[in-house]
Amino acid sequence: MKSRVFSATRASGRLHLGNYLGAVKGYLALQERSDLECVFMAVDLHTITTPYDAKTLPQASREIIIDYLAAGLDPERVVVTLQSLVSEHSELAFLFSSVVSIARMQHLPTFKDKVKQHPNHVTMALLNYPLLMAADILVYKAGLVPVGIDQEPHLEVAREIARKMNELYGMDFPEPQRFATRGEYVPSLAGAGKMSKSVEGSYINLTDDLATIKKRLAGAPTDSGRGETIPTQGGVANLLKFVELIQGADRRAEYEASYQGAGLRYGDLKNELAAAIFAELAPIQERRRTFEADPKKLEEIIQTGATKARAIASITLKEVKTKMGLG
Ligand code: TYM
Repeated sequence: MKSRVFSATRASGRLHLGNYLGAVKGYLALQERSDLECVFMAVDLHTITTPYDAKTLPQASREIIIDYLAAGLDPERVVVTLQSLVSEHSELAFLFSSVVSIARMQHLPTFKDKVKQHPNHVTMALLNYPLLMAADILVYKAGLVPVGIDQEPHLEVAREIARKMNELYGMDFPEPQRFATRGEYVPSLAGAGKMSKSVEGSYINLTDDLATIKKRLAGAPTDSGRGETIPTQGGVANLLKFVELIQGADRRAEYEASYQGAGLRYGDLKNELAAAIFAELAPIQERRRTFEADPKKLEEIIQTGATKARAIASITLKEVKTKMGLG
């Protein structure tokens, strides 16, 4: 039997460069390995754990799938679909809730962040978020999860649940490990924290044209462009990190030499960086247009993916229920 891979994105906006470099590049690398079976989803059930719009959610979920396909995921080789079409995920999450304490969930940094962001929307669904994520992964017995470093606390919960289920009920769940990319932490353009779809001014979308990328980079904070030591945090540090991720370590080293020498001209750096980002995104945008033009084909991919996913997920769910004495 092949080892499995699972990963997913919430349907709360278009994919940005952080999602792409931190996660989707990992999906693309793993898709090439014939020893692995990969499942990639738009997690619409996770999307309803924070305030959302039921009218636009179906399209938002499909936009994630289009971004995946445009980035190069091949539905002939990997399963691509929507989480809510595979009801085994939610059922397994409920079963997992019997082996996890409320206190463990309340103390997660990711839960505390969301409580701060949405103080009037602290729901049971939000508390259960990590359980559903553990179910997403473990329903496929996936051992490898390509995600950014921000998801590590959730993966730790999934590992704890796997261990508990193995101990208590004799399951054989793997303890899922993160598959890291070079872009495991893509910083914010705004100078502090990570690139995030909930922070305006922090991100570049995969669908941005050159003018928009230039405009977004123009807003990134800079300094005088000269100094003895290279900044390790803030706007300049983040710009240099982008240069490294997109243009390579050598280009970064040249800019660092200018910073410590004659001075760095940020206008030139930003222009060159914008062009390099756009060169990476242009073929993705081109492929996106072909999928946008064929909603029937998209629906077919989603439904076929759901059928394949259910075939695997139903076996695990049945095994868990039997071992837990249910049914
Ligand atoms: P989400 O939707 O916030 O992000 C999708 C993926 O993008 C990565 N990512 C980043 N990587 C590097 N730098 C950044 N600035 C950055 N911002 C986002 C995330 O790490 C993620 O890999 N809980 C998950 C969705 C999920 C999931 C799962 C993931 C639900 N079930 C099961 C893996 C397995 C989330 O909110 O990702």
